Amino acid sequence: MRGTIFYVLLLAFVFAGGKVFANNDSFEIVKPLSLGVYDEDYASIVIKRLDDSMQRVTILFDDNTTKVIETKEKRKIYCSTVKLKLGNNKITLVGYDKAGDMTVKEINLYYRSEIYEGFNYAPDGYKRNFFHTDKNEKLCSSCHNMKEDKKTSRTKHIKKSEINAREFDILEDPEKSNCYQCHKTVTFRKNGHAPAVNFLCTECHTGRSGEFNAQYEGKSKYLMPDPIMNRCFSCHEGVKEKWFSNTSEHGPLRSGRCNKCHNPHSSPNEFHLRKPIWELCTTCHDEKASGKHVIGSFVFGRNKGGHPTKGRPDPSRPGRELVCSSCHNPHGSNGIYLLRTNGKDTYSVCRRCHKK
Ligand code: HEC
Ligand code: HEC
Ligand code: HEC
Ligand code: HEC
Ligand code: HEC
Ligand code: HEC
Ligand code: HEC
Ligand code: HEC
Repeated sequence: MRGTIFYVLLLAFVFAGGKVFANNDSFEIVKPLSLGVYDEDYASIVIKRLDDSMQRVTILFDDNTTKVIETKEKRKIYCSTVKLKLGNNKITLVGYDKAGDMTVKEINLYYRSEIYEGFNYAPDGYKRNFFHTDKNEKLCSSCHNMKEDKKTSRTKHIKKSEINAREFDILEDPEKSNCYQCHKTVTFRKNGHAPAVNFLCTECHTGRSGEFNAQYEGKSKYLMPDPIMNRCFSCHEGVKEKWFSNTSEHGPLRSGRCNKCHNPHSSPNEFHLRKPIWELCTTCHDEKASGKHVIGSFVFGRNKGGHPTKGRPDPSRPGRELVCSSCHNPHGSNGIYLLRTNGKDTYSVCRRCHKK
């Protein structure tokens, strides 16, 4: 059903003498609290039926799409995962009872991202709400197992490759994880990160905070430290020493917030980056999006002024396309300007591809 049509019908209904309840509600929203802030693109909605005659609830999104929950004879609680778009999401829930009367409720949730301009911060009035406290979990524990998983051992699903020699306690079947029931969506994107798709959630969600989110200490069993990097380095061993001894440093890496560029759970992009590499770099370095870079003062007919930064094969990395990271190492380097070379000579990087 389209949203506009819906509102026209709603109005027609009211004019025809139908009642829209304000007090005598047929349902209540258990979760989430309105004006919540999200870092992932989904939220869970849980409602409780108060009036047994309520037959269904329509969830209406502000892009005019809808999702319908049909109620069942005895059941009081209904759960649904909904997808969020960047920025504010106005979500309207409409419950219909047998007589055709409705209860209408609205919640507003903000999905923020540091790498999408205009959506970096939620507006005033919104706040980060946390769910995993004993009190909240009690609301769900009659139907959901809220405990941490019992893991077996060994690294069956994890490709160890060069990552490290650590052993993990893992589940034989990640879909049986207690967390899976409510959080499967975080792992659904094409490139899943091994600890997330194996539901080793508590490798990062230790319950502890860090320097940048110390104010949230104790608010959730599954908080993660911000900055997150020490959790990353607990598996990606060895790189810390290398990256932190570089002479050329990159701000976003030094702050330890790997999650600025990488989605720790899964992503449609390679290296589970939050955007394809070229788009990611030009988010913060928008002046480089012009295409005129490296040798901008020359005009090359074929490349329309400047050196190409994309759209060509990368001679130094067979099978990959030329991108910003062909020449720059986002994690730092011993060359000037993060160049994949040593020392201060910017031209020494040219030899990676132009062998003369
Ligand atoms: C009365 C039993 C019951 C209670 C209480 C309950 N749930 Fe559920 N929940 C279910 C069932 C059954 C499903 C499987 C999907 C379905 O049939 O609705 C489910 C599925 C879910 C899902 C996945 C929905 C989807 O779209 O895949 C989420 C998220 C969820 N529940 C969250 C919660 C939270 C949070 C609470 C506590 C505030 C809670 N549930 C309390 C029965 C319950
Ligand atoms: C009954 C459903 C349910 C189960 C089971 C569940 N969660 Fe959650 N979790 C939620 C809801 C609801 C939120 C709030 C965010 C949202 O709207 O989706 C949440 C939020 C979180 C957060 C963000 C911090 C917070 O407290 O709000 C983390 C991290 C998290 N869950 C991890 C886990 C892990 C790890 C497990 C398994 C041990 C787990 N969850 C099991 C429903 C569930
Ligand atoms: C590699 C580290 C890592 C692993 C593993 C991981 N997370 Fe996270 N998670 C994070 C970080 C970092 C954040 C902070 C927000 C961000 O960067 O997107 C986060 C945020 C979240 C949130 C809050 C999202 C929101 O909308 O605010 C939930 C829920 C969550 N994680 C659930 C899980 C679940 C469930 C698992 C296991 C399947 C898991 N995480 C595994 C690092 C991790
Ligand atoms: C529990 C161990 C563990 C933790 C913690 C962890 N990783 Fe990983 N990560 C892995 C494993 C294992 C792989 C390799 C998966 C494979 O090869 O299939 C991997 C792969 C990756 C890759 C892709 C590498 C490639 O060459 O394609 C990136 C990027 C990555 N992790 C970043 C991070 C970041 C950022 C963090 C912290 C937010 C983190 N990891 C935390 C275990 C971990
Ligand atoms: C400025 C963005 C950015 C930040 C911040 C960042 N990365 Fe990366 N990361 C990338 C890009 C881009 C690639 C792909 C590089 C390429 O093209 O080879 C990558 C690749 C990786 C890989 C794959 C193998 C490799 O070494 O290239 C791992 C592992 C990784 N990152 C871990 C981390 C960890 C851990 C942190 C935090 C300490 C982090 N990254 C912070 C952008 C970033
Ligand atoms: C989240 C924002 C952000 C992203 C994404 C980002 N950068 Fe940066 N970058 C910065 C900031 C801030 C600086 C300023 C100097 C510093 O603190 O390192 C910088 C500096 C640089 C420098 C100059 C370093 C020097 O020594 O002067 C280069 C080169 C660079 N970035 C390349 C990249 C590349 C390549 C990517 C994509 C893989 C990228 N950046 C992604 C924020 C970002
Ligand atoms: C073909 C190699 C190459 C590619 C591809 C490349 N760069 Fe550069 N970059 C350089 C060189 C060489 C320098 C040294 C200064 C100069 O010559 O402009 C540099 C300098 C920089 C600087 C620091 C100095 C300045 O001008 O601000 C930033 C930031 C930067 N590049 C970002 C990027 C981004 C973002 C991309 C992708 C859109 C990119 N680079 C693609 C080679 C490259
Ligand atoms: C990561 C690989 C790489 C690096 C490093 C690199 N280039 Fe290039 N360069 C290319 C590619 C790819 C092209 C496009 C060739 C084409 O048009 O098919 C190109 C084109 C050029 C051209 C234009 C040639 C033409 O036919 O239009 C010049 C000049 C050039 N590069 C100079 C440099 C200089 C100077 C440096 C060092 C500052 C450098 N390149 C570093 C990959 C690289």
